Amino acid sequence: MGAEPESDEPTFERSGTVRPLHEQAEPKAGQSDNAPRQAASPRSERAEPMTRRDVYTRPMAAGRVADGPMSKLVSWAKLHLTSELHRREVELDAQLGTLPGVTRANTIAVLSPKGGVGKTTSTFVLGNVLASRLKLRVIAIDANPDFGTLAALAPDELRSQRSLADLIGAQSRLDSAAQLKPYVSTLPTGLHLLGAPARAEVMAQMSPGLYGQLLSLLGRFYEVILLDLGTGITDPIAQFAVESADQMVVITTPEWVTAANVLGALRYLSNDNATLVLNQAPAKNRGNREVIEANFRRQSLSTRVTLPYDERLRTMLDSGSYDLDELGRGTRVPIKELGLAVGRELV
Ligand SMILES: Nc1ncnc2c1ncn2[C@@H]1O[C@H](COP(=O)(O)OP(=O)(O)O)[C@@H](O)[C@H]1O
Ligand SMILES: [Mg+2]
Repeated sequence: MGAEPESDEPTFERSGTVRPLHEQAEPKAGQSDNAPRQAASPRSERAEPMTRRDVYTRPMAAGRVADGPMSKLVSWAKLHLTSELHRREVELDAQLGTLPGVTRANTIAVLSPKGGVGKTTSTFVLGNVLASRLKLRVIAIDANPDFGTLAALAPDELRSQRSLADLIGAQSRLDSAAQLKPYVSTLPTGLHLLGAPARAEVMAQMSPGLYGQLLSLLGRFYEVILLDLGTGITDPIAQFAVESADQMVVITTPEWVTAANVLGALRYLSNDNATLVLNQAPAKNRGNREVIEANFRRQSLSTRVTLPYDERLRTMLDSGSYDLDELGRGTRVPIKELGLAVGRELV
């Protein structure tokens, strides 16, 4: 229609309509939205100062027409979903804060027949919740015979260079919690991490008997001992862990093949006090997940927690800067759910 506007003032077309907003510049500094504006067209003698209502003829909310269908949908979803999650989190915080203490050291085995599904991640986030929210003395041990990564999740400046092999070697000389300190990485949440030896041949010597010694030593100083196991559940270490654990946390991804694998594997486990974590669940796989959850229900696994895939969590873990409060609520809530599920089973 008309020529391009020469000024950056909102411009009326000949027809009297207003140019789309994205073609209009921001008001200049000092010019309030309500300030009278120059007549847009020199040809228009009756031009009134333009007000916001000329442009936005209907009430607006968050950049959308307030009573439009999209706006209604978005605000309903926001209110409903956010407040639902928010409510759940408030509830969880209260429940976590009122769980009773423990009467003895509890051992928890974190395992899966599959690698890379989040055993170490789950051990770590769970240990942090138990230490920080339940105020328990918690240690997580890297029991992965194959170059475990648990200790690497500690910030560099807090990481102990010593390993569980060093601790076993020194056990006869240790009789106070303070003497244990150099062997563990102490995180800001209060969680302690005990790493695996860097040399594979040293870790290969770790027998069920040595783990037994380690558990009885640590049981004198800690209320919760988490065992971050390697992949598999039939090797002697995993079997020992399952037999000596008070409860298990079983990890799977939501893909059917992996989940079916876990179901098959669970039949070999004598311990049936288990919490299931469906980890890295992409929202798209919901249908699949429901089938899988139904199958796990039949296995009498009492509690299931679905931990979403979260890039932020991954980066936090990788950079040694994990902070539960800095995660989005969509990830925070399932992590607290996991803490509560395990916390309730402590004895
Ligand atoms: N829910 C998640 N969201 C994002 N990344 C995850 C999640 N769970 C695990 N990861 C990442 O996947 C990788 C494997 O996880 P890890 O816990 O080490 O598995 P496992 O101990 O079973 O081998 C790690 O890099 C970890 O940070
Ligand atoms: Mg691992």
